[in-house]
Amino acid sequence: SGASRYEAESASLSAGGTIDSNHAGFSGTGFANGANAIGSYVEWQVSGPASTLTFGYANGTTTARPVDISVDGTVVAAGVPFPSTGAWTTWSTVSRTVALAAGPHTIRLTATTADGPANLDYLDV
Ligand code: GCU
Repeated sequence: SGASRYEAESASLSAGGTIDSNHAGFSGTGFANGANAIGSYVEWQVSGPASTLTFGYANGTTTARPVDISVDGTVVAAGVPFPSTGAWTTWSTVSRTVALAAGPHTIRLTATTADGPANLDYLDV
C-alpha cells in the first residue's frame, strides 16, 4: 500500500519555529521553518507499520542542514544531512529505512548545528 503523508504544517515545532508559505512548490498549505539553532526540532505523530521515512524539504543555502532522526525518543539515525537544494523554492526528499511497528509513533528531527533544520514540507510514512 502507498505511503501516508503527514504535512509539516501539522507537526509540532520547538520554540521559534514557524509554519511559512513564502517559498512556492510545497505540498499542502505550508512548510515548517525551524528555528536556526542547535536542538531546534520538528516532530510528527504518525501511524505504523512502515519501513521508510521520506522527508520533503528545501535548503536554499550551500551548506547541508544535518539532523538526528528519533523514533519514540530514541535516535535511529544521527547527523543525517539535508543537502542544499539550490534554492528555497526547490524541493527534494531525504529517505531513511526505519522499522516502525504497528501503532502510533513520534518522529522527531533535531538540528545538530546552529543553522537549524532545513525547511521541512512533509513526512511520508
Ligand atoms: C531564509 C528563508 C527561510 C529559511 C531561512 C533559514 O530566511 O527565507 O525560509 O528557513 O532562510 O536559513 O533557515
